[in-house]
Amino acid sequence: MQIEVYSTFNSVKDLSGKTAIVIDVLRATSVITTALSNGAERVIPVSSVDEALNLSRKFEGQVLLGGEREAVKIPGFDLGNSPLEYKNELVAGKTVIITTSNGTRAIKASESAEHVLIGCFLNASAVVEKALRFALSSETSCVALVCAGTLGEFSLDDAACAGLIVDSLVRNMERVNEIPELSDLAFACHELYLGHRSDLKTFISHAGHYKRLLDLGFEKDIDYCLQRDVLDCVPVYQKGCIQSAISEVLK
Ligand code: MLT
Repeated sequence: MQIEVYSTFNSVKDLSGKTAIVIDVLRATSVITTALSNGAERVIPVSSVDEALNLSRKFEGQVLLGGEREAVKIPGFDLGNSPLEYKNELVAGKTVIITTSNGTRAIKASESAEHVLIGCFLNASAVVEKALRFALSSETSCVALVCAGTLGEFSLDDAACAGLIVDSLVRNMERVNEIPELSDLAFACHELYLGHRSDLKTFISHAGHYKRLLDLGFEKDIDYCLQRDVLDCVPVYQKGCIQSAISEVLK
């Protein structure tokens, strides 16, 4: 099996036949995983605010509009990009249309993959288990970790999570006596994770986006997003929409 990492949404190549895991720890993929875990029926990721508004009109307003620009809630939207807003009482049974600066673009950029999963620290082990199942049963046995990055730049939070996921994939493969082949960036993210796993928060606190969120008063979001393996929901993106793996998508 091969494991590769892309550092930003705009560095993604053709992913045909591969299993992609899209990662935007702070905060888009943490938000999507939380929304579905709290009962949202589906999340529709779109690239622009106009696209979100047009789609919401088609649903005659029977949707929640969520997302951010420059990390703050978009005027007229129901929800921002804080995972703590996506509570069960608000999202259960609902369709959420979401647009974010990097995360939703990374999902769109991964559309050529055979399978597209949504990952973050919150569901790291669950997403690894699902990705292995997909990758090992497909002809191209390759997991591509697509980091959203921040405005086209490498981001430490996503790289640290990619490193954790690489580590978990490697350990799983070693259990069946296989050594996966890592791309240079997959190797680098893995080493970076191994070197800082005892205090990932301090490491991630050097990320530009971490500091921006802190300045905006989103410390609780950061603490929430850095929790590991607290959700077992694996969001799967298929035909323009994201649903939890336990729903219809994989039946
Ligand atoms: C993004 O997609 O760029 C992020 O989720 C930004 C944010 O933290 O709001």
